[in-house]
Amino acid sequence: MSDKQFDVVVIGGGPGGYIAAIRAAQLGFKTACIDEWSNAAGKPAPGGTCTNVGCIPSKALLQSSEHFEHAGHAFADHGIKVSGLELDLGTMLKRKDTIVKQNNDGILFLFKKNKVTFFHGRGAFAGKLEADAGYTINVSGPTTDTITAKNVVVATGSNARQLPGAEFDEKLILSNTGALAIDAVPGKLGVIGAGVIGLEMGSVWRRVGADVTVLEGLPTFLGAVDEQIAKEAHKLFTKQGLKINLGCKIGAITKGANDVTVEYADSTGAEQKATFDRLIISIGRVPNTNGLGIETVGLQLDERGFVVVDDECRTSLPGVWAVGDVVRGPMLAHKAEEEGVAVAERIAGQHGHVNFNTIPWVIYTSPEIAWVGKTEQQLKAEGVQYKAGTFPFMANGRARALGDTSGMVKFLADATTDEILGVHIVGPMASELISEAVVAMEFKASSEDIARICHAHPSLSEATKEAALAVDKRSLNF
Ligand code: FAD
Ligand code: NAI
Repeated sequence: MSDKQFDVVVIGGGPGGYIAAIRAAQLGFKTACIDEWSNAAGKPAPGGTCTNVGCIPSKALLQSSEHFEHAGHAFADHGIKVSGLELDLGTMLKRKDTIVKQNNDGILFLFKKNKVTFFHGRGAFAGKLEADAGYTINVSGPTTDTITAKNVVVATGSNARQLPGAEFDEKLILSNTGALAIDAVPGKLGVIGAGVIGLEMGSVWRRVGADVTVLEGLPTFLGAVDEQIAKEAHKLFTKQGLKINLGCKIGAITKGANDVTVEYADSTGAEQKATFDRLIISIGRVPNTNGLGIETVGLQLDERGFVVVDDECRTSLPGVWAVGDVVRGPMLAHKAEEEGVAVAERIAGQHGHVNFNTIPWVIYTSPEIAWVGKTEQQLKAEGVQYKAGTFPFMANGRARALGDTSGMVKFLADATTDEILGVHIVGPMASELISEAVVAMEFKASSEDIARICHAHPSLSEATKEAALAVDKRSLNF
């Protein structure tokens, strides 16, 4: 095999792609990964949306801004006096950039360690090899090359959805990219879309001093979240100062020299006009197949632009697979990674598996929201008989010691078998607590199983045990 011929070529080096490449190499395939992302210095920056303008930088800023808020508002309760508290936004943003670079470099290191050949550039299908032997792929950009692959994994991710008439300029009208790099705290920040990005980025900028107004199209808040949890979260976020307006119909968006005006009809139908120093538009994301050469080989897309795949990530073309945001399913980094691993294993003839019923969701606000499985409204709609148990963090000793008693854990279990059907948390460290529920559901545990397991004291995880006990109406501490 020449050095231009590969068993597996992965196009896209985000969490779906880079993990697929590493797993394929571990399984003994000669593997390449092509990724076009460059950092400000023009150097390769693999890791995709997640590493560069998504999960990692947003969590860095969420952490920094939370420290700032605690120093200003929470430390005094602990008997810690802070004077002269000042925000150094430049350092906060630089820290975030350093963390991103560490992750980019970490992936390049992992490619070397696993003998994955990395190409920095855009990968595009250039044609099919004879006798279904694979595909030719052109690499263009910083690196120019032509390579062949027996198997191709498309992992080209997604881009922010544009609102017609309000193009992103990343100065006044911001996608996630600009929202993570505002160089001065805006006095008034508008956010269109009260989804995951709107709430996370809205929280970051509110904590450091912006007056944040969120305009959401739907009349319900966080429709995919369990209603009881969403209601609690709405109450808490509003108390923190996020101005969340539901049921808004967005009209004209007009840019001034230094501001943006949004005209909209509010939930009563009344016409409103609001002017912001910056406007974040976070109304979902669209799959990215730009410049991939899909027409050259006839790769099938659905009507919304997603690469069509079966349950096992096989596309319409033999030997071509697709994973992550560019295919159906939740747009989450860990879902992309699981699909990447499963595809590499399927190429090797193994039985890769992704359980879509146990993919956890986390919104990294404060408090965090996390859930796995079905919501109460889904169970009702499906006519499933269930029992519910909740436990408030207010009654948890560790939460009191932390000074963070907001929220609750909620269990939903089958009324007859007691199998756990869903677990929903709004509260401190929900992102970590949810793992126990994911494990339990993977092993088809009952709520009684969790209720009978010894949990460390004092710990937030005792709230999980107590919520499981509450399913049988026998909480011990509430
Ligand atoms: P991407 O990460 O989008 O990677 C695709 C890569 O392919 C990119 O590097 C792109 O440049 C490259 N590419 C595209 N086309 C080509 C081509 N033709 N040739 C070469 N390279 C190409 N998810 C979570 O689970 N947790 C979170 O906390 C979280 N936070 C987020 C915060 C924000 C602000 C955003 C926007 C998203 C967040 N997500 C989070 C979602 C997560 O980022 C995505 O689900 C994940 O990145 C999808 O991975 P992917 O590999 O499918 O695609
Ligand atoms: P989203 O789908 O979470 O939320 C978009 C919101 O915008 C919805 O509430 C929707 O009703 C609203 N909306 C849509 N069109 C509108 C319009 N014209 N006017 C007003 N409101 C409108 O999408 P978001 O926040 O852009 O994030 C994209 C995806 O990225 C998420 O769905 C998630 O998959 C991923 N992500 C995950 C994170 C995590 O796991 N913590 C963090 C951030 C993003």
